[in-house]
Amino acid sequence: MNRSTKETKNLFNEWAQTYDRDLENASGPLLGYEASLALSKELLTIKENAKLLDIGIGTGAFASLLSREDTKVWGVDLSEKMIDECQNKHHEYRLEVGTFNEPNVDTSFDYIVSSFCFHEVLPNERLNALNVSFDLLEKNGKLFMLDIMFASQQAMDDGKKAIGEYWDPTEDYPIISELDVMLRDTGFENVRWFQTGPYHWAVLAEKI
Ligand SMILES: C[S@@+](CC[C@H](N)C(=O)[O-])C[C@H]1O[C@@H](n2cnc3c(N)ncnc32)[C@H](O)[C@@H]1O
Repeated sequence: MNRSTKETKNLFNEWAQTYDRDLENASGPLLGYEASLALSKELLTIKENAKLLDIGIGTGAFASLLSREDTKVWGVDLSEKMIDECQNKHHEYRLEVGTFNEPNVDTSFDYIVSSFCFHEVLPNERLNALNVSFDLLEKNGKLFMLDIMFASQQAMDDGKKAIGEYWDPTEDYPIISELDVMLRDTGFENVRWFQTGPYHWAVLAEKI
């Protein structure tokens, strides 16, 4: 990862106002963004009156797609400008500046969800980020993460070749086998993987 957390925050603060429009024609590693979100909805059914936290909520696309009318939604994001955009669209969401490692919330959740954000967590902070999420979940709570990920180093090398000039060398995408081990080490069970796009995977894991 060649980008500091401060640089990531600046990047998304600058991108916030045009983010939704730009993602209508997603390319590079984000190719198939909308289809991956839509497929995710098939993979996770939210129970009645649930408390859901979206980490890296951005402008709110994932939380609004997954949640039901009676879902109580919290969201955190590193970028205050993304939070502003999200709050303008979703007045009822409880939003704070916060991160995977320091979420800045004072309650526990039935679901923690996250889309296209976990790869922004610095590799040496990923295990801690999963531990923090585990602690924030209620018993029988579920973690559901969608992101740019690769099944193996070979798959990542192939993706890099296919994406060409749109490959972002400042990012460090997770490799599934490594993340799978981290999730199990954290204490998650029933870890299940789903490929949702050419470069996208979703993982569903439970705190039993
Ligand atoms: C590619 S956007 C995805 C936004 C939204 N989830 C979506 O699917 O459209 C990544 C988001 O994660 C936020 N972010 C980056 N690093 C983060 C971290 N460590 N913790 C929480 N949010 C982070 C960014 O500010 C940005 O809003």
